[in-house]
Amino acid sequence: MKKETTMIVAALMFLAVNQAFAQVRRVPNSAEDAVRRFMRAKLEHAKNSLEGLTVENFEMIGKNADRMTKLSESALWRVYQTPEYVRLSTEFRLSSAALKKASIKKDIDAATLAYMKLTMRCVECHKYVRSIRIAKGDTRKANILVALRKAQSSTGMKRNE
Ligand code: HEC
Repeated sequence: MKKETTMIVAALMFLAVNQAFAQVRRVPNSAEDAVRRFMRAKLEHAKNSLEGLTVENFEMIGKNADRMTKLSESALWRVYQTPEYVRLSTEFRLSSAALKKASIKKDIDAATLAYMKLTMRCVECHKYVRSIRIAKGDTRKANILVALRKAQSSTGMKRNE
């Protein structure tokens, strides 16, 4: 009887420790996945805006411009917190706002121009992000965790749709 109890206790301890390690391993990965999904959403909205431009669907353009603006305001967006990243984020937001404005005015030329500027913002920021990741080593994981925690406490991780 005593032997059985010891074995059960040992088995439970093994499970608990295993579980704890699994948690530690899983948290950073799922945080990274969450950020990746979040970041990839930009691409979807940008593609949809382009579709809207080509078929002259202003509602589609406006809706996707709004979604990009919302994404850029989320805590998850702020995986880097340098002044340059903040500046590039502001520029991006101004471009998505300009795209929205052009869609309200139903001005296809202004919307196309705004879309091109927005695309330049995507590339500009990604160039910057690559440069700081190379210069400072990859601190992304730590930043992602901080951003994710902030997002969880401020929004309860609502999906940006
Ligand atoms: C102000 C900065 C900034 C702007 C502007 C920006 N991004 Fe990103 N984007 C990021 C960061 C940061 C990541 C995460 C990169 C990393 O650290 O791995 C990212 C990641 C991505 C990813 C990759 C997700 C993956 O699978 O890993 C895609 C795709 C993407 N962005 C698309 C876009 C598109 C499209 C635009 C423009 C409509 C855009 N981004 C504008 C900062 C930006």
